[in-house]
Amino acid sequence: MKLKQEKLLVLMHLWLWWSTYFLVKAATDSLKPGDTLNCTETAKVVSQNGKYFLGFTTIGSETYLATWKINWDDFWIWLSDRNQPLDPNSAVLSLNHSGVLKIESKNVKPIILYYPPQPINNAMATLLDTGNFVLQQLHPNGSTLSVLWQSFDYPIDTLIPTMKLGVNHKTGRTWSLVSYLVNDGSHTNVTPGAFSLEWEPTVGELVIKRRGKVSWRSGKLRNNRFEHISEESQRTLNYTTLSNGDESSFSFTSTNDDVDVLWWIESSGVFKNYSEIVVNASKCYGFNTSGGCQRWEDIPKCRNPDDVFQKIYGHLNFEYAFNDPNASYVLSDCQAMCWSNCSCTGYKLYGQNGTGCTFFPLAAYYTPGNNGEEIYMLGNFTQYIDKSTTKSQHSGKKKFIWISAIVATALLIICLSIFCLILKKRECTLQDKKRKGIVTKQLSATCTGTSGIEEFEDDLKHGNELKVFSYMSVMAATNEFSSENKLGQGGFGLVYKGILSTGQEVAIKRLSKTSTQGVLEFKNELKLICELQHMNLVQLLGYCIDQEERILLYEYMPNKSLDFYIFDCTRSKLLDWKMRFNIIEGIAQGLLYLHKYSRLKIIHRDLKASNILLDENMNPKISDFGMARIFTQQKDVANTIRVVGTYGYMSPEYAMDGIFSTKSDVYSFGVLLLEIISGRRNTSFYDKDHPLNLIGHAWELWNENEPLQLVDRSLNESFDPDEVLRCIHVGLLCVEQYANDRPTMSDIISMLTNKNAMVSLPQQPAFYCKRDIYEEKLSSKELCTSSIQEITVSEEMESM
Ligand SMILES: *[C@@H]1O[C@H](CO)[C@@H](O)[C@H](O)[C@H]1NC(C)=O
Ligand SMILES: *[C@@H]1O[C@H](CO)[C@@H](O)[C@H](O)[C@H]1NC(C)=O
Ligand SMILES: *[C@@H]1O[C@H](CO)[C@@H](O)[C@H](O)[C@H]1NC(C)=O
Ligand SMILES: *[C@@H]1O[C@H](CO)[C@@H](O)[C@H](O)[C@H]1NC(C)=O
Ligand SMILES: *[C@@H]1O[C@H](CO)[C@@H](O)[C@H](O)[C@H]1NC(C)=O
Ligand SMILES: *[C@@H]1O[C@H](CO)[C@@H](O)[C@H](O)[C@H]1NC(C)=O
Ligand SMILES: *[C@@H]1O[C@H](CO)[C@@H](O)[C@H](O)[C@H]1NC(C)=O
Ligand SMILES: *[C@@H]1O[C@H](CO)[C@@H](O)[C@H](O)[C@H]1NC(C)=O
Ligand SMILES: *[C@@H]1O[C@H](CO)[C@@H](O)[C@H](O)[C@H]1NC(C)=O
Ligand SMILES: *[C@@H]1O[C@H](CO)[C@@H](O)[C@H](O)[C@H]1NC(C)=O
Ligand SMILES: *[C@@H]1O[C@H](CO)[C@@H](O)[C@H](O)[C@H]1NC(C)=O
Repeated sequence: MKLKQEKLLVLMHLWLWWSTYFLVKAATDSLKPGDTLNCTETAKVVSQNGKYFLGFTTIGSETYLATWKINWDDFWIWLSDRNQPLDPNSAVLSLNHSGVLKIESKNVKPIILYYPPQPINNAMATLLDTGNFVLQQLHPNGSTLSVLWQSFDYPIDTLIPTMKLGVNHKTGRTWSLVSYLVNDGSHTNVTPGAFSLEWEPTVGELVIKRRGKVSWRSGKLRNNRFEHISEESQRTLNYTTLSNGDESSFSFTSTNDDVDVLWWIESSGVFKNYSEIVVNASKCYGFNTSGGCQRWEDIPKCRNPDDVFQKIYGHLNFEYAFNDPNASYVLSDCQAMCWSNCSCTGYKLYGQNGTGCTFFPLAAYYTPGNNGEEIYMLGNFTQYIDKSTTKSQHSGKKKFIWISAIVATALLIICLSIFCLILKKRECTLQDKKRKGIVTKQLSATCTGTSGIEEFEDDLKHGNELKVFSYMSVMAATNEFSSENKLGQGGFGLVYKGILSTGQEVAIKRLSKTSTQGVLEFKNELKLICELQHMNLVQLLGYCIDQEERILLYEYMPNKSLDFYIFDCTRSKLLDWKMRFNIIEGIAQGLLYLHKYSRLKIIHRDLKASNILLDENMNPKISDFGMARIFTQQKDVANTIRVVGTYGYMSPEYAMDGIFSTKSDVYSFGVLLLEIISGRRNTSFYDKDHPLNLIGHAWELWNENEPLQLVDRSLNESFDPDEVLRCIHVGLLCVEQYANDRPTMSDIISMLTNKNAMVSLPQQPAFYCKRDIYEEKLSSKELCTSSIQEITVSEEMESM
């Protein structure tokens, strides 16, 4: 709906008048009983004053019967049925001799516009000068006896003079405008959309609702004016309200006959007079109470009054986006859903046709560009601008900042060392007099207090809420690390349950004192890890450094870890297939996030069932993901002499050569997947017919075309065989011998959710020994690599 240039308008106007002149001659303003109007004919019904048309028309790619005004030919005033397009080749409007007004087309149920209780043979359908298409019962002398049906009773998204909003008490029918689902300039879909404009007779005001919820109110109509509509937008309007036993209604007329007024509500929630904005209801964000906007009851806690979505163009370099292709969602739904989901910072349309949403989670990175996509981002989106693209422009400034930072850090370290040295000396002298523990606490308090921790804390306050805890508070929370509070042994230290003074339950990990890492490096690492936020990762809440002691505080997971359920005959019944599949997907999403997160690439290196914790809704959360990084400082693909990890989950190249990459995590994921399906540990697996590990067993069943034999018996056959098969298939692809053959996490996610994404068949997995060879105790390195298991046993880290 574009406003054309004025000149063009005048020309068009003239042309239309001219063509109408002939049409009026040819066409009529009414249908008598027996008359039809064919969609294939060009003839239309034309009102007597020549201003309004009724005819078949095409909107988008669909055909409807419509009324419209001559010089505004794409503002439809009425449409036959927004939910039921007509057949463009056979639709016929007819009024028959029983007084039935209907639209029939081949092979489709007819649309009955009016069906009289008793047959009437004196009816006539007329397009009035107001644009109202009415079916009347006539007196033989030609005067109207009654109005049987009228198009103004079925408004779409447009209000013109003498049309009503409100309620008809006799029929119970309400008159309101409902926006199109989509009308954004490039797409039009006339099915009812998100916004409505209604008349509230009790208060006497207009309201705009989004999906039934009031977002804007005009204010009570006083002295022919609405408080929240600008004077300019209503100067030439004369409002009429009616309130009696029959109806409570609102309508308007223009005081200047030469000036047209046409109100309509756009799919985006903008209320317009033609192309002029009267009110933009999508500016009402729940906090905004100016201009008639309504405050919402249910504003999410994470939002504040400045949070407003801004339209930007460019690309988001973030692969972890959440798509919801639901075709009944339009832009305003995406906005509302993103706004109410605290882990959402932006959204864009998913589909090509203006429907469906794509949401961007917390830390999205953005590259500006005019030829990019249309994206809506919350708040000050400049914080998301991808630094890598703007680096060159600021390199000079950056260099300076770097140098200053290095100098400052060096000075800080020197001061710190001197200070700590002094304190250490004092500690020795005090040691005899006081209990060592207390002294340590005091020392740590002073040492950390003056050593830049505060500065570090300030840093953190900008991006996240990582807290620094005092050793004292940690001791209090864990009852001095009492054995009753011990939850288990994690990969890198003991884990305790703690209750903070605020009552919050936390998991407290006391790292084993084997790290050679300095305090600063450690803190930098923590800062990075704290930025990792994903619903499938356990959230780090804070830390405490006290001399040699390094303690991490995590969110507490009440439902323990995955191994607690799947490897236990009775508890495994609690996890049905739906939950298991949800867990598999969650782990995959969490891993993808670790691998692909644009600033850090984290390789977990110790993925296993006991590192998958479950929240109160049994959603999986990967734990221990930062530890591998904190303990060693390797890059993407690297070699390590110290093999950390758990026997049974380690890929051959890692276990044997210490080479690790994201593909070693993929391997562990594959093992985990097979374990979740079968309910059995890879390592403790034993089956008298198949003396193999779980991977080998799965591979044999796959080759014997009996893959479903692998499924955990406690699932009682109640699973989706298609899904299970896909999972087994993916699992086998993950445990392939050669890292390059294994899929990436993003491949895995698309394979898990989409049948057609399966491309390759699995090949023989690593650590697979053919039964006969196994029995003959051959240990050819090519065929049977199980001998390396012994290498890694010594390095095995037991789980928490
Ligand atoms: C109008 O439609 C009817 C029914 O489809 C058809 O029989 C008739 O030929 C059409 N008339 C014209 C003029 O196209
Ligand atoms: C008019 O149409 C209705 C509904 O299709 C039908 O039941 C009725 O018989 C028709 N009347 C005449 C006179 O054709
Ligand atoms: C038609 O008849 C009705 C009822 O008898 C009467 O009220 C009306 O005035 C008549 N109209 C004309 C135009 O004769
Ligand atoms: C409505 O729009 C028309 C066309 O733009 C304009 O001429 C008219 O003044 C407007 N009326 C009001 C009340 O804003
Ligand atoms: C407004 O409309 C009413 C009823 O339609 C009419 O009586 C009144 O004169 C109109 N006012 C103006 C200023 O046109
Ligand atoms: C209406 O407001 C929304 C939200 O502020 C904005 O994105 C949109 O561009 C506005 N629409 C118009 C037509 O100004
Ligand atoms: C609040 O709503 C008014 C009226 O729609 C609008 O003019 C204003 O820009 C909005 N404020 C914010 C912060 O969105
Ligand atoms: C799409 O969303 C609507 C409204 O929330 C819902 O009723 C419908 O079931 C959804 N459709 C699908 C396919 O998810
Ligand atoms: C939009 O496209 C999707 C597929 O991309 C389709 O499922 C949906 O029906 C379409 N919606 C509309 C309103 O055309
Ligand atoms: C919030 O968004 C995330 C993805 O951004 C999605 O996984 C999650 O289900 C959403 N939560 C709700 C309550 O819609
Ligand atoms: C947004 O943030 C950037 C950097 O954090 C700052 O330079 C800019 O002034 C901010 N813009 C607004 C409008 O607050």
